[in-house]
Order: sequence, then C-alpha cells, then structure tokens
Amino acid sequence: MPRAGGHPRAIVRTRTLADVTVDNAAAAMVPGTDIAPQTATSVAKSTTVAKSTAEPTGGPPAADPLAWLADHARAREAAGLRRRLHPRALAPTADGAGVRVDLASNDYLGLGGHPTVVEGAARALRAWGTGSTGSRLVTGTTALHGELEAALADHVGFAAALVFSSGYTANLGCLTGLAGPGDLIVSDALNHASIVDACRLSRARVAITPHGDVAAVAAALAAGGWRRALVVTESVFSADGDAAPLTELHSTARAHGAVLVVDEAHGLGVVSPTGRGVLAAAGLAGQPDVVATVTLSKALGGQGGAVLGTTAVREHLIDTARTFIFDTGLAPASAGGALAALAHLRAHPELPAAVRHRADELAALTGAPRPAGAVVSVVVGEPEPAVAAAAICRAHGVAVGCFRPPTVPADTSRLRLAARADLSDADLALAAEAFAAAGVLAR
Ligand SMILES: Cc1ncc(COP(=O)(O)O)c(C=O)c1O
Repeated sequence: MPRAGGHPRAIVRTRTLADVTVDNAAAAMVPGTDIAPQTATSVAKSTTVAKSTAEPTGGPPAADPLAWLADHARAREAAGLRRRLHPRALAPTADGAGVRVDLASNDYLGLGGHPTVVEGAARALRAWGTGSTGSRLVTGTTALHGELEAALADHVGFAAALVFSSGYTANLGCLTGLAGPGDLIVSDALNHASIVDACRLSRARVAITPHGDVAAVAAALAAGGWRRALVVTESVFSADGDAAPLTELHSTARAHGAVLVVDEAHGLGVVSPTGRGVLAAAGLAGQPDVVATVTLSKALGGQGGAVLGTTAVREHLIDTARTFIFDTGLAPASAGGALAALAHLRAHPELPAAVRHRADELAALTGAPRPAGAVVSVVVGEPEPAVAAAAICRAHGVAVGCFRPPTVPADTSRLRLAARADLSDADLALAAEAFAAAGVLAR
C-alpha cells in the first residue's frame, strides 16, 4: 500500500491554455434539482418500485436481460419519480426568458463564477493541466494541494486536512478509514447519501437514530458491544436546512469515548460570522475527538472535498482511505479555485451573513421553518404537486430544487430553496411572484 506524505509532483507544462473557454452551456447538463442523495430513512422505507411480473425468476436466460429496466422506468413514471436532466441556465436569454433567479444552486456565496476564483482555477489549469494524472500517492502531490489543505484546516479550525476528489469520497474515506468490523457508527436518520453509503461500506454495525435525537444516540452508545464508536451527523442538514445539536452530541459522544464526525457541507462558508462552520461556532472545531468533512462544491463554488482533524487522522487516512489511495487526486484547477474562493471568503466576512439574511427572507416568504444556513425547505407532500410547483417557478424564471423520494422520506416531497449572498431585492421580488403562482407564498 502506498505510504503517506505524497512526493511533490513534477510540474508539467501543457499547451498554452490562455485561450481555453469553458462552454458551460454544453458542459453542464446538470439537473438543478433531483439528482440528489438518499437519506437513511428513505433507504429504509425505500421507494422500491414493484417488481414486474415479467421479471425472470430463474430458468432459461431472457432474450434481453435488461428488459426489466423499461418496466421499472414505467413504474417510476407512474409514481411521479422520473428524474430528467435539463440544460443548466447560465443567464437570461435576450428575450428575458430562462432562469433569472437561481435558487437551486449550492453556490451559496456566488463564488463559482467570481473573477478571482475563476482566475485561481485558470492559473492552476495553465500550470498543471486538466487532471491530477493519478492518485497523489503515485504521481505526486502539488504545492496547491498542500496550500489548500493548510488553508482549509486553518479556516475551519483543525490541525490538518486531507483533500479528496469530492465531498462524497471524503465521507466514504473518512468513515471507512475510521470504523470497521467490530465498531459502531451511530448515524442520524436524515444523513446524506454519502454518509449512508460510507456507513454501509465500513462494515461497522450501524445504528440509525431518529433525526436530531440525542437521547437515542446516547442509548445506542450505551448498549455497548463495540470496540470503537463514531457518531456521525451533518451540521446543517442538506434537505431540511436545520442544524444538528452538535454541543449535546459531542458531550454524549465524549461521555462514551466515541468520536463525533460532522459533515460541514452546508455549514462551511455560511455559518459563523466568518463562515468557519457550525463546529467553530459551537467551539468544537479542533477538539481531539471531533472530525469534520467538507465539500468544496457548495459555498466555495467548486468541486472536491476534505476531511479535517488531527495530524494523526490525516496520516491514518492517507494510509487507509481507499477513496484517497485509489482515486485520482483532486484536479489542480479545483484546488486552485477553492484556494482563491477561501481567500475571497476570508477577505469578505460579510458574505456568510448576507446569505443567511437572504435565507431568512426566503423562509419568511414561504412560511418555511427558519433555516440554520442557506437551505430553506418548503414541504409540499406528494411528488407530483412538488414537481408542478417547481415547474411553475421555473416558468416564472426562478429555478428551485425539487426533492422527492428517495432523496427525502415519503410524503415530504418539497421545494428546496438555496439562498445566495448575491441575491438582490429584485430577485426576491421575482421569487415572491413565482411562489405566489406556485401556491407556496405564505403572505
Ligand atoms: C451533506 C452533504 N455531504 C456530502 C455531499 C457530497 O458532496 P460533493 O457534491 O462534493 O460530492 C453533499 C452534496 O450534496 C451533501 O449535501
């Protein structure tokens, strides 16, 4: 198994990329909405589509062994659960059509297209080319990766960080690296799909506790029968927008000798005066029994993820986290962009307050619960009316997220509104018009 540290990667000068333009319209066939995580509960209740009677149960091979796919697609269609890609809107078209206000994006601070962030990514792209060329343990690491890790650790308040190619792989690497057979992971019922999958892959015993229920966490730990234990939660929940009771979870975990693992995907850049996250706001960042994961794809506007903790945690994950060892390193342009985004955030401490203010306004408009961060959850109920409401908003030039099972539990299909720091009063006024037309305006 390759050993830690990562030797410096030899710089490769590529062709001049000064003239590279990114054809966003073509490159970004991204759904604003529905390609989204499963939750633990929804996995449990799972929106399993009834198996077709035409499915083979054995016997001679079927002529088309994938024929069942069409049956399943029809069943999902009937349940209102088909997911479709649509072109990503970048800017209004000349006739004013298209998306004018984007409340579906996780680019909470509007940094993804900020000139200094784009320039940071472009500089890295020109220096290193488009890819990392392999695992950092094999082809080497760059100074950019090291700088980004140091900057992230410093900003969030931990001794060390290790970057991964995404927030998803950071969660997989973190939990599978820190828990295994004989261990216990106590996981909130509404944790993100990447945490759910990480729990499964770890081969530890998993106790799924009701959302935000500290007593249930304590009971799961007290039941014993484990060698080591982790308590894992999101800090701000990605679909509901509420905050985890981190202080209580930490004292419970500590009382049982367990480690608290907190996914700060929606806390970083948004919560605390300088966007250091919920752990920092709670005074828990840097505690020896706390580990954080983050994504670079939300408030930092880019792509990638990281695990933050002690130096020993970082070293351990370099040696053992399969999604670090066997995955191509974070693209240099993503590292450069994230570094620039972090620097911009530190130079503009007003941004986190601005996004939280806009989130409060969106919640007031729709009557949704007051959000802990940027995410406002407007529960509609059944999938079809939620999809219809999202379509009406879009027709009014306002893109919103639409989350249905299995992303969220049954009967809680919803509009997910993501505030951004760069929303204007006019944007909010247009959103209010769209919400009124969609029947989700509270006043
Ligand atoms: C809570 C949470 N964790 C992890 C992730 C995965 O991050 P990434 O998109 O960088 O893989 C997401 C993204 O939706 C998320 O919401």
